[in-house]
Amino acid sequence: MKFNAILLVLASLCLEQASAVTWYFLRWYTPDTSAEFIKFSMDMVAPTLPQAATYYLWPGLQDVGTSGVYQEVMDGRSGTWWIGAGWCCSNPTLSWGGGFNVAGQTTTTIDMVRTDNTDWTSTLTQGTQTVTDVFPLSYKNFNQALLAIELYSVAWDFGPLVFKNVVMEMNTTQTAWCTSAPENYNSATSYTMSTPVVSTSNGITTCSIALVNMTGPA
Ligand SMILES: *[C@@H]1O[C@H](CO)[C@@H](O)[C@H](O)[C@H]1NC(C)=O
Ligand SMILES: *[C@@H]1O[C@H](CO)[C@@H](O)[C@H](O)[C@H]1NC(C)=O
Repeated sequence: MKFNAILLVLASLCLEQASAVTWYFLRWYTPDTSAEFIKFSMDMVAPTLPQAATYYLWPGLQDVGTSGVYQEVMDGRSGTWWIGAGWCCSNPTLSWGGGFNVAGQTTTTIDMVRTDNTDWTSTLTQGTQTVTDVFPLSYKNFNQALLAIELYSVAWDFGPLVFKNVVMEMNTTQTAWCTSAPENYNSATSYTMSTPVVSTSNGITTCSIALVNMTGPA
């Protein structure tokens, strides 16, 4: 399963009891709770998977109450990466979306969009494979966007994790949330990032980052 960091205590108490989790993530926040993320998209480059192990690599959104995480998880457990979208883990309980295998060094385009006042829509595309799933999560106020590496009893041994063309949209006219550096959880991650490009139109601010390269443990 996949857990957000704030639920670490819960996570250690329940499903992944026996294994040690290691987190690396970058996180962007809304300036205040009146603003919400309304889109999060990127091109995610699959690293070469070293072995079958519980590697979870994902972009995701967390809500103000940190009730869970809406995410697209690249999962290494079978020995071949599999990527799919879903809401982890309860409140509400939703079925996981569809997905597909991805080969190392291929790029998957990931799009998460708040499509209306009910639904978010996830679209994943890699080569000729594409899946779309709808999740009734618009009532959540997503105030955190994360690029995360979540590892259970395995080290970050797959090299850099690269995200290209990262786009975040938020219903605010503020821009510092984009132009300032993201939170680097526990200063755990070495990363390089291109300078964000920010624009505001009709009350929506768009933040575009051409390259986020999570190069390894700090
Ligand atoms: C952002 O959108 C949410 C959901 O529609 C709304 O509740 C909130 O008031 C909006 N905030 C701004 C600043 O427009
Ligand atoms: C990411 O960083 C690593 C380590 O510096 C580098 O070798 C690699 O070329 C970078 N990837 C991209 C796409 O810039």
